[in-house]
Amino acid sequence: MEELGPNRYVDPLIGTELNLSDHVARYQNSRECNTRIYREMEATSYHWPWLSSHRAWVEAQQWGFGDRAFHTMWYLILSHLGQHSSVIRCLEIGVYKGQVISLWSLISRHVEVQLQISALSPFSGVTGVTRENRLLRAIRKRIDRRFRHEIEAGSLYQNGDYFADCEKIFSEFDLDFGKVEILRGFSTDSNILSSLDERQFDLIYIDGDHTEEIATHDVKVFAPKVAKGGVLVMDDASLFLEMDISYRGRPGSSKASELLPAMGFQNILNVGHNRVFQKQ
Ligand SMILES: C[S@@+](CC[C@H](N)C(=O)[O-])C[C@H]1O[C@@H](n2cnc3c(N)ncnc32)[C@H](O)[C@@H]1O
Repeated sequence: MEELGPNRYVDPLIGTELNLSDHVARYQNSRECNTRIYREMEATSYHWPWLSSHRAWVEAQQWGFGDRAFHTMWYLILSHLGQHSSVIRCLEIGVYKGQVISLWSLISRHVEVQLQISALSPFSGVTGVTRENRLLRAIRKRIDRRFRHEIEAGSLYQNGDYFADCEKIFSEFDLDFGKVEILRGFSTDSNILSSLDERQFDLIYIDGDHTEEIATHDVKVFAPKVAKGGVLVMDDASLFLEMDISYRGRPGSSKASELLPAMGFQNILNVGHNRVFQKQ
């Protein structure tokens, strides 16, 4: 990748500087544009060894979800926010094993922006309901409607120590997990919500529970915490959009994301099943 100066690079595909504003200026919510953005961001991520090796590690170790194109998207968003504030306040809802928070931390080292990362997640899975216990899972799925919805929404995770997993990915890339603010629990927990009462963030990523009920809750409660000019990224939210990409998300998160324009957000980009909104 051609370097233009500190933290400035030419996009190998489009031949111009890698820059969120240029992508936003060219953005239209059309099949052609949504597909092109995704393909460009996916291809760009391969051109950058430090970015590419992080995603390669996540894929090889099965340490996270999402698509490779998101790595470029996070680089563009953080570089953009870094131009407007000296410290970027970031919150991820639904952390799993730490792919995104470690990536944010890695990007901050490369683009030299300072981040204050908060991570809201249970840091554990659910006992007795996972693939290794097929019979219990099948019985519960039959008799428990909520459980059935959670499976369909992809909201159940194998039990494990995801806090230790976060420590591992941070240490693998020589990053400081100790600097991350840990909010252990669910986005609906009243004690967590009251601790965040007065807080504002420049970046919020909603990737927790994907049922319509909780995704809607997360949008209603957390979108107002995004500062003016800040960015909210909603995972699994592109189901109703036109794009030639096989996985576009789930109904709950997709419906919840449609509340955002009426809450003062502009949809500035879609990168596969991640929809990017900016607070006006
Ligand atoms: C899809 S995974 C997140 C993947 C991660 N963002 C990544 O890109 O690798 C969803 C995570 O959200 C957590 N979770 C589920 N419901 C939640 C809620 N209401 N609040 C916060 N986290 C939640 C799950 O335990 C799981 O770790």
